[in-house]
Amino acid sequence: MLRTAVVLLFAATALPAQWNVMPMPSSIQAGQGRLTIGQEFSAGPDTGSSADPRLSRAIDRMSRRIAKLTGMTLHEGSQKILLLQVQGGGQAVQSLDEDESYRLTVDSRQAVIAAANPLGAMHGMETFYQLIANAADGWGVPAVTIDDRPRFAWRGLMMDVSRHFMPLEVIRRNLDGMAAVKLNVFHWHLSDDQGFRMESKRFPKLQQQGSDGQFYTQDEVRGIVEYARDRGIRVVPEFDIPGHSTSWLVGYPELAAGPGPYQILRTWGITDPAMDPARPEVYTFLDAFIGEMASLFPDAYFHIGGDEVNGKQWAANTADIPGFMRLHGFKTEHDLQAYFNQQVEKIVTKYGRRMEGWDEILNPALPKNIVIQSWRGAKSLSDAARQGYQGILSSGYYLDHIEPSSKLYLVDPLGSQADSLGKNEQARILGGEVCMWAEYISEENVDSRIWPRAAAIAERLWSPAAVRDVSGMYRRLDVIDGELDLIGLRHNSNYRLMLERLAGSDGIEPLATLADVLEPGALGQRHHVNPNYAQSTPLNRLVDAARPDSAIARHFGELVDRFVANPNDAAARSEISRWLTLWAGNNARLQPLMEKRQILRDAAPVSAMLAGISALALAGRTGPDIQTALKPVGEVNIAVAPAIARLAALGRRF
Ligand code: ACM
Repeated sequence: MLRTAVVLLFAATALPAQWNVMPMPSSIQAGQGRLTIGQEFSAGPDTGSSADPRLSRAIDRMSRRIAKLTGMTLHEGSQKILLLQVQGGGQAVQSLDEDESYRLTVDSRQAVIAAANPLGAMHGMETFYQLIANAADGWGVPAVTIDDRPRFAWRGLMMDVSRHFMPLEVIRRNLDGMAAVKLNVFHWHLSDDQGFRMESKRFPKLQQQGSDGQFYTQDEVRGIVEYARDRGIRVVPEFDIPGHSTSWLVGYPELAAGPGPYQILRTWGITDPAMDPARPEVYTFLDAFIGEMASLFPDAYFHIGGDEVNGKQWAANTADIPGFMRLHGFKTEHDLQAYFNQQVEKIVTKYGRRMEGWDEILNPALPKNIVIQSWRGAKSLSDAARQGYQGILSSGYYLDHIEPSSKLYLVDPLGSQADSLGKNEQARILGGEVCMWAEYISEENVDSRIWPRAAAIAERLWSPAAVRDVSGMYRRLDVIDGELDLIGLRHNSNYRLMLERLAGSDGIEPLATLADVLEPGALGQRHHVNPNYAQSTPLNRLVDAARPDSAIARHFGELVDRFVANPNDAAARSEISRWLTLWAGNNARLQPLMEKRQILRDAAPVSAMLAGISALALAGRTGPDIQTALKPVGEVNIAVAPAIARLAALGRRF
């Protein structure tokens, strides 16, 4: 049995084109024939199946999505085309160890999803939906048997809503995207120096003075928690303490270790203000606050942040901290933070939650039931596991580093750092989380920073470790990209809207030709070029519209590889020539627009450079400009420059 599964698995990594599934299931066995999806499509539970209301709502959503995908109004025939056999209703609060497996069987008459609970059933429905394709004989799903279960139980997306506030509709559509690719933890980074985004009734000055009026009411938060639960997603709130807490201190300066007053931070980076671990009133406050939040967030885990405390305000304190350190025999600020974390852990435990924090909180003084989120390097994850702590990986999954899916995809929570761990230690690695920090994003372009790259990481966290073929991943990612559009994500539609804003009434074509092959710089590059970025800086320029991991650059790179491998490939040669000609002439087409609009001024150097290097490659010449184009050009990067450099080095005309 196991042998068969392994063979099928390897077959699955080199699948024929009809399996447009992401994440790739644990095992796929092709059957005979095809199930037609027509207007009479209907889905419903089998007799004796669980009556959990999440199921009927998921079925309604699925039917609406199929109608949207196919453009057909469904008439719901008498016979169920998709039958759900779900044993139980699942737990009242979705838990980490809940069974998420399902079996999907499709033959030419019917599809059946069998699962232990609604979570597996919902995952099965997402797989079923992804298999629907428009073929020569109409819409349908190929006959198949899929047995599927996640490799990791913790598959998250973290969204920072503090640096730039993200309205509810942004959260909801990203939860829809998460469900589509089987991510199951929404980590909501609700407070930081730049904004406190949660309504507290106990301490209303938190949102009144710390948010510029941009916060979620408690009713709205309950709505999001329900919305997520309906999609098989847990919500883990994060309130970052004792550092990254300036927004708390605006209304409650008495929590700080240094004298106020405080103002919401409008810029980025690590700052000095931190809560005072030596003051008992701080813990009284946190007890009441965490108790209030625990009544709103039912998840078993509660994230307390704990990252990037620089200790400066503690070191400068002459009031209560020096005596407190002496009394406890603390030598360093690190000891002080460990003490703080111990007190907070007791509070979190008192409210029936398990504490989670960034890897700085790793300290043997803390009990073993906390969870470490590794961000400074995978080593902290293996260190934690070795010391008996559970953990999740985020190092390598930072979307603001603007790395391509090909790189993100191969980062594995059980990668080389975990090689030396024993079985029990490896079992402490629960999974991972994609992180979307919000210094350089707005509600308008956040989707394009998350999607579709998060789908590649979702596959790493769900699928068997052996599923690692990058070209297969990209082929399916291109398909899922369209599915995410249909769900309502705006990574493609807002790209066009942003270009239209930049181009005004002039038409976006030459601007899109340029933007399609650019990638935004990562945060370091952007800060270097413009150290004055602040919360109110408009994110409306070319760099903000440009998207990570340019698909055109990837396809062009593949084309160039094909040609380099076989210089007699005439089709590749003529396609290369067409692209180079387009880019070489684009600057002249874009020039009038750039001259007319101040907002496009910083596009001029990169537009000229793309045209210049394309003209060189067309002429079969290389030159210093090509080397320059490989480096950052202001805040953007020319994603096709490496492929153009490879061509130019051939010394052939196109
Ligand atoms: C972090 O990136 N400071 C967790």
